[in-house]
Amino acid sequence: MENSTLTKSSILLLAAAILLLFLFPDLSTPSPPPSPVSCTNGITNNCTVTNAYGMFPDRSTCHALKVVYPTSEQELLQFVANATASKTKMKVVTRFSHSIPKLSCPGGSNGLVISTLNLDRVLNIDSTTMQITVESWVTVKALIEAAAEANLVIPYVPYWFGLTIGGLLSTGAHGSSLNGKGSAVHEYVTEMRLVTPAPADQNYATVKALKIGDPDLDATKVSLGVLGVISQVLLIL
Ligand SMILES: Cc1cc2nc3c(=O)[nH]c(=O)nc-3n(C[C@H](O)[C@H](O)[C@H](O)COP(=O)(O)OP(=O)(O)OC[C@H]3O[C@@H](n4cnc5c(N)ncnc54)[C@H](O)[C@@H]3O)c2cc1C
Ligand SMILES: *[C@@H]1O[C@H](CO)[C@@H](O)[C@H](O)[C@H]1NC(C)=O
Ligand SMILES: *[C@@H]1O[C@H](CO)[C@@H](O)[C@H](O)[C@H]1NC(C)=O
Repeated sequence: MENSTLTKSSILLLAAAILLLFLFPDLSTPSPPPSPVSCTNGITNNCTVTNAYGMFPDRSTCHALKVVYPTSEQELLQFVANATASKTKMKVVTRFSHSIPKLSCPGGSNGLVISTLNLDRVLNIDSTTMQITVESWVTVKALIEAAAEANLVIPYVPYWFGLTIGGLLSTGAHGSSLNGKGSAVHEYVTEMRLVTPAPADQNYATVKALKIGDPDLDATKVSLGVLGVISQVLLIL
């Protein structure tokens, strides 16, 4: 008698748990943080910029006049040229903006933020030379998956799937392996393309293609985002 009451209540509990899972599937699936840029005038003007935590260490957020979403290096070049011509301050913002400090604030409140959200293509993978070329918004997750499809692994990435190549390089992010040159991702960069402001006679912006051996590459690999917008990166695995 007691046994069957026990069984009945266990079955009821199990049924209730299953029902809850169906009613609230979100309880079991993680959801990404909101965008670090939100604008009040349309979707691109008068914007608040923050990080994935919703505020910077001094409990503030910052303001930008405009956000742009280039979809190619050519478009990126035009945005940088335009902002340079009008002496507008600019910074790059990523989709999750996981850095805690105010790295993505363009300074003042009339700046431009350039989102790399649409620069997310894996451009080339060569499984023989173990080289991979990606655009700067490619995330750790996308990088690992693309490498896996070519039967390669990435031995040196930092811990979180949502970091972007542009962001993690700019802050010198690293994993925890001592293998090879260690696990600072910038040790494995052999080429990088970045868009930088330029004088008027060069139409206010230029693309710099830096290769290993060029001392400028050492500076631009870990630049805290102040030496130009990284457009593409070639990594050796
Ligand atoms: C859960 C979690 C785990 C982490 N684990 C590790 C870890 O294991 N090891 C480690 O070292 N770090 C770790 N970090 C820190 C993380 O690697 C850095 O904060 C990294 O900078 C975040 O990258 P992001 O893509 O979010 O870039 P953001 O924070 O958005 O940007 C960082 C800087 O890079 C600039 N930038 C971004 N893209 C470009 C571009 N295309 N061109 C020019 N400048 C650009 C931005 O303007 C900004 O100045 C972790 C962070 C989190 C939240
Ligand atoms: C700009 O945003 C601020 C809040 O960040 C708001 O108070 C103001 O009204 C906005 N201006 C316009 C023109 O949308
Ligand atoms: C360049 O700036 C002008 C005015 O400052 C603006 O009208 C135009 O849309 C901008 N173009 C781009 C590509 O940002």
